[in-house]
Amino acid sequence: MIGAGRPINLCGCKEDWSIKNITIRETAKNELSQILAIYPAAFPDEELRPVVSSLIKGTAEVLSLAAFHEGALIGHVVFTVFNGDDAGDKGAGALLGPLGVLPELQGQGIGSGLVQRGLERLDSQGTRQVFVLGDPKYYSRFGFRPERLMLPPYPLPQKWADAWQSLLLSNAAPLAAGHCLLPEEWMDRTLWLP
Ligand SMILES: CC(C)(COP(=O)(O)OP(=O)(O)OC[C@H]1O[C@@H](n2cnc3c(N)ncnc32)[C@H](O)[C@@H]1OP(=O)(O)O)[C@@H](O)C(=O)NCCC(=O)NCCS
Repeated sequence: MIGAGRPINLCGCKEDWSIKNITIRETAKNELSQILAIYPAAFPDEELRPVVSSLIKGTAEVLSLAAFHEGALIGHVVFTVFNGDDAGDKGAGALLGPLGVLPELQGQGIGSGLVQRGLERLDSQGTRQVFVLGDPKYYSRFGFRPERLMLPPYPLPQKWADAWQSLLLSNAAPLAAGHCLLPEEWMDRTLWLP
């Protein structure tokens, strides 16, 4: 089974950031404008502010983490927690994304720090499997591998087949095969198209 038995190194977070004094913490409600400023900078060709905004302001269960340097918000990630099909699978899955770091500060471990802190937090609260649609060259460093059993809400273009990936936390059992039961914020088909 894809992903089964792949332990994740939750201690692998790069701590030797070349920018010192970086704090990663959960965001507060009043930090939305700072969060939203990250996305046009990190994704000049995509408009991700509406989905980030609706995830943070809405009722979906999300983990919103940001990296700060000298009080400035320099990177952000959202994890959307969702239930598996079985009654006992409440909060068993999470979708990672979007993830963005200010362009001038990329390549210094900030993105990795955000992902690792998020994975640690989700693991501690009982999430079993984390999914992402992203570049396998980046996400494989955390142990994500192409996922074929639990599918995104909409079919993906063939060229993105390996970009849909998952990671099992703490050797947990994968969610039953099917489609991710994501909240309505993610049910906009254009979010799943190139
Ligand atoms: C992707 C992103 C979040 C990574 O954050 P970061 O702080 O730059 O990442 P880190 O410093 O932790 O890791 C940098 C490493 O990832 C690599 N990397 C960054 N983006 C990558 C990508 N899209 N594909 C492959 N490798 C990538 C860098 O080459 C670097 O490699 P190295 O450690 O071997 O030198 C950031 O570059 C970003 O915001 N990019 C634009 C938005 C984006 O693409 N988001 C992810 C969507 S899937």
